[in-house]
Amino acid sequence: GQLDKLAKEAGLLYFGTAVDNPSLNNQNYLRIARDPAEFGSLTPANGQKWSNTQPSQGRFTYGSGDAIANIARQTGQQLRCHTLVWYNQLPGWVSSVYNRDQMQQIITAHIQNVAGHYKGRCYAWDVVNEAVEDDGRYRNNPMYRAMGVDYITHSFKVAQQTDPAARLYYNDFNIERCCNAKINATIAMIRTVKAAGAPVHGIGMQGHSRVGMSPSKREMKETMARFSELVDEVAFTEVDIRHTKLPIGAAERKQQGRDYMEVVGACLEMPKCVGITVWDFTDQYSWIPQQYPGEGEACLWDRNYNQKPAYQSIVALLQSA
Ligand code: G3I
Repeated sequence: GQLDKLAKEAGLLYFGTAVDNPSLNNQNYLRIARDPAEFGSLTPANGQKWSNTQPSQGRFTYGSGDAIANIARQTGQQLRCHTLVWYNQLPGWVSSVYNRDQMQQIITAHIQNVAGHYKGRCYAWDVVNEAVEDDGRYRNNPMYRAMGVDYITHSFKVAQQTDPAARLYYNDFNIERCCNAKINATIAMIRTVKAAGAPVHGIGMQGHSRVGMSPSKREMKETMARFSELVDEVAFTEVDIRHTKLPIGAAERKQQGRDYMEVVGACLEMPKCVGITVWDFTDQYSWIPQQYPGEGEACLWDRNYNQKPAYQSIVALLQSA
């Protein structure tokens, strides 16, 4: 393994991957996921989300998240923890709360329990995920309906009280290519909640994109320059670059490699970009085909655990950095 080793040599803090629970009984998968020279950071793809950690009110379950956190503990890999407050994978009992004080208490209890459980083990927490729409409006989710934008401020405050050592991130998709309505709204939102006392340390750009249509290094650097005025650090948190038509040939594979290099190159060239996480590393377990039927092969390894040209491109770029 070499991605994390080379990334660190090139000045980044880590090169990481998301890991989901169904893959944990696959030895081919584990050999790569547990290699700290390949991945210096793990992110549970689902295990720490609300529907997994507090499926019914007051009942906290940590088995799925712990399975991945415990690997990181054994191997010395870092943990990027994901995610405390998100409209998706939110249990029904939360979405049926409309009262402001009740919602505030529910968020407080959730963060105190979950961030408390993982206290001291998360390099970073994605405290709030995907709170802004592509058109720039606040996402009209149950937390927003009950509390307005205060739910974001409140979540960051409780996260900091609970785990003062964790870097606290706002995380979203479609905020890579400068500068669309969503990026402008995200900047305005971060300013608003910071002015209200929210300790936002980082902005996570998820980095899901499509081969041949993904943002250029220049566009991403422009975004990061703007984010860097607001926060201490930025990161690519969920990178995968999918083919929109399958099957593909050599030219498409090469293009995917170039697209990945734009992301890695952008991070390397921005002082506040601390690292890159891919949203799983093998096509065998990628979320893409389920969500976008007919699309996929978005990862750095194919489903038979062969490294793709995109992997080699990243290695070459990191080696030359
Ligand atoms: O756990 C149930 C299982 O009990 C059931 O039998 C099965 C049947 O479909 O579904 C299982 O839940 C699935 C869950 O993943 C756990 O595997 C959901 O259907 C499925 O929708 C869910 O997808 C996850 C998705 O978030 C949900 O929005 C993906 O694995 C996960 O990779 C993805 O990750 C998100 C990030 O958290 C935020 N950014 C976008 C990214 C991609 O959507």
